[in-house]
Amino acid sequence: MEDGMRRDMTATMEVNGRACPVAPLSPTLGAAPTLLDVLREQVGDMSVKPGCRVGRCGGCMVLLDGQAINACLLPAYRAAGRSVITAAGIEMLPEGAIVREELVQGNAFQCGYCAPGFVIAITALMRETGGHVGRAQIRAAMSGNLCRCTGYASIERAVLRIARRVAAIPAGG
Ligand code: FES
Ligand code: FES
Repeated sequence: MEDGMRRDMTATMEVNGRACPVAPLSPTLGAAPTLLDVLREQVGDMSVKPGCRVGRCGGCMVLLDGQAINACLLPAYRAAGRSVITAAGIEMLPEGAIVREELVQGNAFQCGYCAPGFVIAITALMRETGGHVGRAQIRAAMSGNLCRCTGYASIERAVLRIARRVAAIPAGG
């Protein structure tokens, strides 16, 4: 089945609500590019950041059917028929809009390169927990995201504010 998807040049994924091809349209992408490369070079979504390319820095995180994954580790064809949400589209989700707002208002980042990956990891945590989290759970959830600038304290403070706001969202809201 996966080989079939690999050969299917018409297969699409939904990226931030828009249908996009998963097969490489440009020869520069090679035969089986990663989701990271297709999102940046074919879809044009530069919010997905390349870093280590081996699953260690979290810069390339996206939500795939609601789960936070490292897009550098997934062959793009495996996203066929699935929903991808990137940091650029995170405000589609009520939790994502809060995450973005609090990180910006709290000046949580310095250079900002790591920010999209954190936005994804934090949004996934909020959707899983409804905002009912403590510091230990927050730190564990962010352990796959590297920041070379901040020391994480400003990010963690913002996440605690985010959690309070998400926990206050009425059920079904
Ligand atoms: S670029 Fe994907 S985890 Fe670092
Ligand atoms: S703010 Fe610069 S890497 Fe995180």
